[in-house]
Formats: sequence, C-alpha cells, structure tokens
Amino acid sequence: MEITPAFLAELPKIELHVHLESTMPGEMLERFAARQGRRLPRPAAELYHCSAEDLSDFLKFLDSICAYVGTEEELAEAAEHLSLSSRREKILYMEAILNPTHWPQFTVPELIRAVTAGFDRGQAAGGADCRFILSLSRTQTAAEAVALVEAMKAHRTPRLAGLSIDGNEALTGLTGQRFRPAFQAAGDAGFGRTVHAGESSGPEGVRDALDLLEADRLDHGVRGAEDPALLRRLAEEKVPLNVCLTSNLTLLYRRPEDHPLRRLLDAGAAVTLNRDDPTFLGGLTLTEELGRAASFAAMSREELLACQRTAVRAAFCGEETKAALLAALAEFEGCR
Ligand code: ADE
Ligand code: ZN
Repeated sequence: MEITPAFLAELPKIELHVHLESTMPGEMLERFAARQGRRLPRPAAELYHCSAEDLSDFLKFLDSICAYVGTEEELAEAAEHLSLSSRREKILYMEAILNPTHWPQFTVPELIRAVTAGFDRGQAAGGADCRFILSLSRTQTAAEAVALVEAMKAHRTPRLAGLSIDGNEALTGLTGQRFRPAFQAAGDAGFGRTVHAGESSGPEGVRDALDLLEADRLDHGVRGAEDPALLRRLAEEKVPLNVCLTSNLTLLYRRPEDHPLRRLLDAGAAVTLNRDDPTFLGGLTLTEELGRAASFAAMSREELLACQRTAVRAAFCGEETKAALLAALAEFEGCR
C-alpha cells in the first residue's frame, strides 16, 4: 500500500542514532550564549547554515556549538527539549549519543546527571522515553576509554544505556585493538555497545567493530555493503545497522545512486532508520527521514514498520520497555 503523509505522521517511531550535540535549536543556544555575555557567530535562525560537506570540519563546528551550553541546567534543558520535540512526531523511544570530548566544560558525572535530569523531566511531561549513550572519539587513548567506562559504572543511571565510538574513522585507522578493553568492560557491566563504522571507514572498519569490539550494533555500517561476504555476514547475523540516509547523502556519498539502502534491505540486513545530525540537516525530522528513505529505496509500509521493530530489538533497554514498544507497533498495524 502507498505510503501517505498520514501514515508517516502516525507511525510510532524508534530512533537509535541521533547526536544530542546536533539537536539544539539556534534560539536555545542564543539564549545560553547571552547568559555568558556571548553572541552566536550568525543570527540564530542561520546558525546551522554552514557547509557540512566535510566530516572533520563538521566535528569542529560541533565543539563550538556545545561551548554555548554553560551550566548543567542548560544541558538538562537541551535534553528535555529533545524528549519533548520527539514525542510531537510520535517518536516513542530514542537513544541519543553524547560525546564528552565535545563538552570539556562538564565532567562525566555532571554530563550523566544533567542529561538524566533533562530526559526524566521530558518524559514526565509527556515526552519520548529517551536514553543516552556516551561516546568515545577515535583519537582518544585506551586509558581514556577505560576511564570513561569506569565513570559510567560509578555514576550509572537508568537512562545511561551504552558506550559508543564516533568521530572520523579515517583520521586514525583501525581502533579495535585500542578500545577493546574498554568495550569489554562496558559489556561486562551490562552496557550496550555500538560503534560508528562503515561511514568514513570501509568494510575493514565494520569487521574491526564486530570482531574486536564485539559491537551489538553499528552506527551507519552502510559501507559494509561494499564487500559481498561481509554483507552476507551482516544479514545472517542480523547485526542492526543504524542507517542515516540524509546524513550519508550529505557527508558520504556524492552520487545518491551509490547509497546501498535498497541492497541492504534486499539482502535481509537488519536496518533501522535515523537522522544522525538533524540541526545540520535543515532541521530534519524523523518523519521526513522515513519519508525520504521510503521514496529513495521504494520501501513498502511493511518495510518501514519492520525497521521500527528492528530498532526495538536493537535498543539498549529492558524487555518490558521492548514489549510495550512492540505492542504500540502492533496496535498501529491493527488499526490500518
Ligand atoms: N558525530 C556527529 N555526527 C557524526 C557523524 N556523522 N559521524 C561521526 N561522528 C559524528
Ligand atoms: Zn552518527
């Protein structure tokens, strides 16, 4: 059946790959900047009108954006905003990535406390159930990675769901060996493990994440499709791939026809659909992202629903939450 705007709007949604750093509206940052006696480099409405064609430049810009958030309360407000704005487009559950290297003004315990408070407030006011994942940068040391996991264990809250790596995979080469002890410690402590791989790295980055880091799922993972044997493995092992089509078409693929979304679906890969960096992508909503993916890859309603169910299975939450999310999807399907 045809995918209509009403179907997209009403579909209960689950998102597993969005960076909290890329969800803060310009107007909010303008307010925070004023409290520090600072001004944004451009009017708030134009803050994100910058070229995001190069990942390294983009990551530097993220640092400058995060510097406007000066207090724990402001960070909590940013987290609360994400929860509330998500629910408006029927995102029931979300996992946001937060990389402490973008936030040198906060300690890890402060970050955990502030984001937990913001997500708690958001959900209590009717927002989405949001959890968060703390992320390593590719350039960090093994000792820094282990220290992050120790801090996560010591300051754990129910909203802190896992460990990840993001940043530019091309800057450092393979990092599996370096981060293996931290990922093992995170797994032993019951945290979920996800890795940006197969975006700025090719199939070798995907293998590194699976074999050395024992990642439960991959952020992007799309370049795994360049290697037929790896694509078969991803499909057979049902490794969840948190795909971000709009982001990939902006930062990764020059030619849209090179994006492997349709091939991944046809191969039976476990695909979820996500925004990655919404403020930098024209204020992208997940509803828009799903509509774009559906028309780009000629997806059916069943396939879009299957991506939501895949996201539930891949989520770093307990079985009770998963059962409630699957029930909401089943109810939606039953009403069609
Ligand atoms: N951090 C924020 N967005 C990212 C992306 N697309 N790739 C790697 N790291 C990121
Ligand atoms: Zn990402």
